[in-house]
Amino acid sequence: MKTSFKRSAMLAVASIGAIGILYACATKGATTQSLVSGDAASRVYVAPGSYDEFYTFMSGGYSGQVSVYGLPSGRLLKLIPVFSQFPEDGYGYNEETKPMLQTTYGFLPWDDSHHPELSQTDGVPDGRWLFINANNTPRIARIDLTRFETDEIIQIPNSAGGHASPFTTPNSKYVVSATRFSVPIPNTDVPIDSYKKNFKGTLSFITADQPGKMDIAFQILMPGYNYDLGHAGKGPSDGWFFFTSYNSEQSNTKLEENASQNDKDFVAAVNYKRAEECVTQGKAASRPSDYMHNWIDSTSRIAKSEKKTSVKMIDPQSCPGIVYYLPTPKSPHGVDVDPTGEYIVAGGKLATVIPVHSFTKMQKAIADKAFEKEIDGIPVLKYDAVMAGEVQKPGLGPLHTEFDGKGYAYTSMFISSEVVKWKLGTWEVVDRIPVYYSIGHLMIPGGDSKKPWGKYLVAMNKITKDRYLPTGPEMAQSAQLIDISGDKMKMLLDFPTIGEPHYAQGLPASIIKDKQLKYHKLAENTNPWVTKSENDGGITRTGKRVDIKMIAIRSHFAPDNLEGVQVGDTVYFHVTNIEQDWDILHGFAVLGANTPELILAPGETRTLKWIPKGPGVYPFYCTDFCSALHQEMQGYIRVSPAGSSVKLMANVSKKSQAQIGDAKKGQ
Ligand code: CUA
Repeated sequence: MKTSFKRSAMLAVASIGAIGILYACATKGATTQSLVSGDAASRVYVAPGSYDEFYTFMSGGYSGQVSVYGLPSGRLLKLIPVFSQFPEDGYGYNEETKPMLQTTYGFLPWDDSHHPELSQTDGVPDGRWLFINANNTPRIARIDLTRFETDEIIQIPNSAGGHASPFTTPNSKYVVSATRFSVPIPNTDVPIDSYKKNFKGTLSFITADQPGKMDIAFQILMPGYNYDLGHAGKGPSDGWFFFTSYNSEQSNTKLEENASQNDKDFVAAVNYKRAEECVTQGKAASRPSDYMHNWIDSTSRIAKSEKKTSVKMIDPQSCPGIVYYLPTPKSPHGVDVDPTGEYIVAGGKLATVIPVHSFTKMQKAIADKAFEKEIDGIPVLKYDAVMAGEVQKPGLGPLHTEFDGKGYAYTSMFISSEVVKWKLGTWEVVDRIPVYYSIGHLMIPGGDSKKPWGKYLVAMNKITKDRYLPTGPEMAQSAQLIDISGDKMKMLLDFPTIGEPHYAQGLPASIIKDKQLKYHKLAENTNPWVTKSENDGGITRTGKRVDIKMIAIRSHFAPDNLEGVQVGDTVYFHVTNIEQDWDILHGFAVLGANTPELILAPGETRTLKWIPKGPGVYPFYCTDFCSALHQEMQGYIRVSPAGSSVKLMANVSKKSQAQIGDAKKGQ
């Protein structure tokens, strides 16, 4: 086993040498000419005013966001904040969205977003929602694709490093999350070197088909390995889920060597219909487990948080038939199921072949009890009994595979920096194309579903080096667009990406472009601080709290002069954009504000909390260039010393002056 590791290490070293040679070639220039054919420019040109054919949603990796691009142009269309505060629009800063980032660890303003996953109907992306996982503090978010906004986030307890997430079942009944790091469950103070005894993994199934109602349906307690990626079965394998695991050595230190000892690790095949039965039969234990569920109320547009306190945990020993292990060489990373649902492709980072398991053979091996051994109640099936075939000499460092729906598979090769195309069934490599450099995931729109739109492939590359004008030590990571419509792959375009474009999903624009919300209906806004007309604005004091109700409309705020605030007060600006028109947004910022601005969608109310530090007059203004008189869209708020006799005043209508009077009477 030692020698086998050394061989892999030598291969890796040799291939790093090869990458060096690639860099050297690239820096000599003229690479563009040799890499793209003459018509590439016209293939990606989308004329001004014309639309792209596909949306693609890329995770922002350590930016905690999702970025939306058009294909084939590579145009950046939007950044959607998910797990990170976003100063550009106030997400996670304004009072309405702060609860979205609540966890049992408190308010977390950041995470690492890895795998976008489109919701599906009958195994095909349907454009309702995009799910994405948080890797650091395990969570799953739902983004509504009529608004391109994060609407819901659920935390995953008994998990650490939610990497194998949030892959969906064919009708998005569930999305899943598997723990990357095994941990003590429940997590308690134990010696780290008691790993083999005390550390466990979990696979979580989260109900996902009801907006605002995500919940942990059940968790499966697993051996203390690292769980990496997953994909649902489909067609004949519908009802099953496949997860890769590595570190079957159960090492707790120096994993780069110690977790590379075994020639084979495992794909865990989970029969989740069987899991449902076991839950129904009362075979799942209720385990105390705290986690948060946050969602945006649809009419007030205010996020709510609820704390949940238990999960149903299934131990495979008490639910036979729930999990089987498929031996898989070697430290497998990706696991991908082909569009027919028959083939399960694993990418062994250190493997010299791409192993493909057969679902039909797996079923037979289970019926025949072709078991090698059993681990914690999980039968290990014999490799030869489940193997459909192996792709020989594919390249170095196979990671992920997507499919074109025409019988071909495309695998990313991290070490040899290439995409390899091979044929399902014969396992022969039919084409390969270099990518620049060190590709992680790749994506074909619908390429992990039952119905790939097999026209383009996007390679997501970790290292950019010499591909763009240099920008200091950190370069943008890169995506490359490859035409896969013919026999030979053709490189069309490079474009830089935000954060780490870890994975992506794509679908034809026609599925969602005509379903976009253009504005929120003001009449339906139930935010308790909404101001629906200019006359309804005002200022009220409750002890040391001051609430200001204000409207924004082209090109003014009302009220726009405010007095009576004192040092020591906490001020809440509740600003409602009363426009009822598409793409007319206003912003709100005040001098010395403790948090970023507000950006206000038409019909929406957002609240900025402000604690003025000293007496003076502070201007506020609209930050979004909304009209010819945008620069006139401003106001002042006066702050007086604590105990000052300056009266509370807002220069709006008589009605609001009356409200002020009422408020004063109340004091
Ligand atoms: Cu409103 Cu600029």
